[in-house]
Amino acid sequence: MPYPADPSARAAILDLLGSVWPHVPPSVAQAARWGSEWCEVSTPFVRWDDGRAVSLVGVLRLPMRVNGRDVTLAGIHGVCTRAAYRERGLFRSAIGDALRYVEREIGETAILWTEEPAIYERFGFRRVEERIATLDVDVTPVRDARGRRLDPDLDDDLALLRRMLASRAPVSDRLATREPGWHFLIDLALHGSLAPALVHLPALDTIVAVEDRGRALRIHDVIAPRIPDVRDLVAHLGGAPWGVEIALTCDLLCPRAHETMPHDASDVLMVRGPLDVEPPFALSSLVRC
Ligand SMILES: CC(C)(COP(=O)(O)OP(=O)(O)OC[C@H]1O[C@@H](n2cnc3c(N)ncnc32)[C@H](O)[C@@H]1OP(=O)(O)O)[C@@H](O)C(=O)NCCC(=O)NCCS
Repeated sequence: MPYPADPSARAAILDLLGSVWPHVPPSVAQAARWGSEWCEVSTPFVRWDDGRAVSLVGVLRLPMRVNGRDVTLAGIHGVCTRAAYRERGLFRSAIGDALRYVEREIGETAILWTEEPAIYERFGFRRVEERIATLDVDVTPVRDARGRRLDPDLDDDLALLRRMLASRAPVSDRLATREPGWHFLIDLALHGSLAPALVHLPALDTIVAVEDRGRALRIHDVIAPRIPDVRDLVAHLGGAPWGVEIALTCDLLCPRAHETMPHDASDVLMVRGPLDVEPPFALSSLVRC
């Protein structure tokens, strides 16, 4: 159930989001230019005051691979109450409606990421730890790998990215997204200048979202019809002398034994309902809600 078709209602909800997070409306517009419409994929539960949207809980349908099965989880996002309307129970009322909708229309399991977990514990969400794989990858860099950084503002690069997102394989059989690109592009827009680089590796038919963190090369996402081994990825990226961090569930990328560390994102994953995935796991920083 998308946002109301009425443009003034859409504008009012985006105005509420912008009152709390000024970067959200421009990011929503940026994602729309890339072909991903926030207002078409999110179901909003809104509290209104005389035409003004004053409190919001958004629900996304998240196609996922969980323990080898294709399932749809609910994602809770865009939770906010306009500053002057807080502490009146508006969020409590909106999330009540949202969770009843989730149970009726999507399923038992809802997830979200937040920097304020205490807000959600009273509504049945529990904290779940994501972990990052850390490993040394000693490979000979592939000469002439022809890796190229993509710019989604260029038509050809955007077309390539969208095509590969639409036909990607889940990066893990244990816990990964199966979404065809709308979520990735919205999150890419929300990350803005802090987004990881998107590097196309034609020889591997892969786009890798990667960040040089100085002490290690961090892999944030891998978009490919067949998930390559991390050694091939690193060889085509030119090597990683200080080590590699994989911020993903890595049963396919790196089935060998490796160390892990707690995820260092400022927001934590919370789950309501069953999600029986053996740790360690992590979801891409580009498909968080
Ligand atoms: C968090 C937020 C949505 C709460 O909205 P609200 O309409 O004021 O919340 P309510 O009045 O419905 O409060 C519902 C319950 O949550 C509790 N609560 C509200 N903010 C809280 C916080 N930051 N930490 C812990 N509990 C909180 C309230 O005490 C209340 O508990 P009670 O029903 O047991 O008394 C609002 O403060 C906000 O928009 N904050 C900025 C954006 C944000 O942090 N979003 C959520 C994290 S992603």
